[in-house]
Amino acid sequence: MLLLFFYAGIVVCMRMTGVKAPWTPENPQFVAPGTLKNKGFAPLARVFWRNDLHKEAFWNQLQLPVDRHFNPILHPSATKRGLRNSRFESMVKRSFSEAKKQEDMRQTFHNLPHHIQRFVNHMLRRSYPIILQPERQCGAQEQNEKKPPLLLFAIKTAELNFKNRQAIRQSWGKAGWVAGQKRNSSVGEEVGENPNDLGVNISELLKMESKHYGDILQWDFEDTFFNLTLKDVLFWRWFSHSHCRAVFVFKGDDDIFVNTPRLITYLWDQLETLQANKILKDFMVGEVIEAATPDRADKSKYFIPESFYSGSYPRYPGGGGVVYSGLLAQRLNLMSRRVHLYPIDDVYVGMCMTRLNAFPVHHPAFLTFDFPGKEEKQPCSYHKILLVHKRSPEQIVRLWADLKQTQTQFLLLLNITNTRIWEI
Ligand SMILES: *[C@@H]1O[C@H](CO)[C@@H](O)[C@H](O)[C@H]1NC(C)=O
Ligand SMILES: *[C@@H]1O[C@H](CO)[C@@H](O)[C@H](O)[C@H]1NC(C)=O
Ligand SMILES: *[C@@H]1O[C@H](CO)[C@@H](O)[C@H](O)[C@H]1NC(C)=O
Ligand SMILES: *[C@@H]1O[C@H](CO)[C@@H](O)[C@H](O)[C@H]1NC(C)=O
Repeated sequence: MLLLFFYAGIVVCMRMTGVKAPWTPENPQFVAPGTLKNKGFAPLARVFWRNDLHKEAFWNQLQLPVDRHFNPILHPSATKRGLRNSRFESMVKRSFSEAKKQEDMRQTFHNLPHHIQRFVNHMLRRSYPIILQPERQCGAQEQNEKKPPLLLFAIKTAELNFKNRQAIRQSWGKAGWVAGQKRNSSVGEEVGENPNDLGVNISELLKMESKHYGDILQWDFEDTFFNLTLKDVLFWRWFSHSHCRAVFVFKGDDDIFVNTPRLITYLWDQLETLQANKILKDFMVGEVIEAATPDRADKSKYFIPESFYSGSYPRYPGGGGVVYSGLLAQRLNLMSRRVHLYPIDDVYVGMCMTRLNAFPVHHPAFLTFDFPGKEEKQPCSYHKILLVHKRSPEQIVRLWADLKQTQTQFLLLLNITNTRIWEI
């Protein structure tokens, strides 16, 4: 079986020598008042090792011994050894093999729905070969590129979603819009045909696409909904091992519209404060979902039975689009080794965050559930947001064209003459 997954990485390199943006949001709704503090949320109790949350549920039972082992109160020395301890993975494996020996766990497993059993059968495997990856090193494109890139876009896409990738490359992920720099590509204004309609070999096409744009990262596993978590975990590993120096990572789906100018301004504004307060290593921002419970409707694609996971989900940012620091990506890479994979990708990110004792910041301009009510119809609605989900490739291209009409104003406002955008 084939497999894929992929991440298109488009690197936005900014030289931070530019003048700080004189930006004042016109609409206070989109000023994130809690950018550094989640004032809107009550502190979340750190209860993930509490026995009563675990009951009989399969995943909870698996994770319990691992959380116990790294509980700083029960085992201060295990925690002190730090995140780089290589025994993490063996701990996760051990909890799995011990669970297999228990009769009640075996029983629970046999009663799980088939697709969840399939997930469980592969949940220990985290190593898959890379099929395609960018040739150039992330953030080291040119010798005179002294500053690290500000932002790396890591977009989850399926191999057949050529149209979506092309729309992103032509619009908000386009290299060169900041400094008016043109990239020499054959991309026309029209979004391309879906290659599958042409009856050609998709692997071959993807190879050509990767050669042409150099922005594809693909691993050899089956691209199913429950395997999406693997894309995050493998991306964190790739990011850490490739020594990518991007200050921020934007992780999102391929059916979103991102207001890139606004996002860059926002991140630029945050950077100084984050660095001054030494909290860049914890920084994650998105549409934060608080105290969600697993979907128990068995027709839903998010369905998780009580016998698999009990308790509510930790606070997590909606997976449609989220930004976190490169430093946090590296810590997530290490922490994820002591958290069993979970079939829902954004919930898994929240599970790792809780265990890092880091909490995502809510920003109302990340619309991962689309505009509330009729707000979309209001003038300038797309100028005020950072991201909106879901938009078709055609819509993405059109929205970008609309946004570009006012690009000159953005450029003046941003004063980013010293800035360049690159694509890997
Ligand atoms: C762009 O590519 C075409 C052919 O691939 C070439 O003729 C042209 O000179 C290139 N333009 C620039 C600016 O590099
Ligand atoms: C597509 O091409 C790859 C080589 O790149 C080959 O391994 C594979 O068998 C081909 N698939 C089909 C359906 O022809
Ligand atoms: C995930 O991918 C692996 C490797 O291709 C596959 O064996 C497994 O069945 C997939 N898991 C799910 C839940 O689809
Ligand atoms: C942008 O900043 C430069 C200094 O880097 C300054 O000389 C120039 O006047 C500024 N331009 C605008 C439009 O503010």
